[in-house]
Amino acid sequence: MAASLAIHREPRHAEVVRLLERAALPTSDLTDEDMRDFFYVGPANAPIGIVGVQLYGADALLRSLVVTQEHRAHGLGRALVERAEQHAREGGASKIYLLTTTAESFFRSRDYVPTSRDGAPLAIRSTPEFAGLCPASSAFLSKQL
Ligand SMILES: CC(C)(COP(=O)(O)OP(=O)(O)OC[C@H]1O[C@@H](n2cnc3c(N)ncnc32)[C@H](O)[C@@H]1OP(=O)(O)O)[C@@H](O)C(=O)NCCC(=O)NCCS
Repeated sequence: MAASLAIHREPRHAEVVRLLERAALPTSDLTDEDMRDFFYVGPANAPIGIVGVQLYGADALLRSLVVTQEHRAHGLGRALVERAEQHAREGGASKIYLLTTTAESFFRSRDYVPTSRDGAPLAIRSTPEFAGLCPASSAFLSKQL
């Protein structure tokens, strides 16, 4: 399935919010403009998977990864993460960070490693996700691109 998967750019903001709310992930800081660095699979009016990237020079934040329940375990999550990483590299990033409460082992099996919050770059620490939207108990992981 993943091999022939079409991943599209710029999902509709409302659809992204809908999927994130269903997965209990943060939405309040997302703007229409952010959608330029988001990707989706499935129909534009009913995506089955999404992921977003925020670019800060050499650093990037991966966020908002969701695959709808009925489409999980077919490689979509992995394909979306790979697309997000490619986008971050193309945008000039050499390291990508993320916060998660629900998918730490998924990301660790994709070569993400636990990372000290104290050593995080200022741009990443200043994101709404880092500064408060994600619970303090979230795992903080990073990967060299
Ligand atoms: C995490 C998520 C995106 C994975 O999507 P998916 O399409 O099922 O992932 P894949 O099919 O590509 O799975 C790849 C591998 O990860 C494993 N995996 C999937 N979800 C996992 C999870 N939550 N925790 C640990 N491992 C997971 C799969 O078993 C599979 O293992 P394999 O490579 O040994 O076969 C999906 O479970 C999801 O939407 N979860 C809710 C939202 C969430 O937690 N998002 C992350 C917030 S940053």
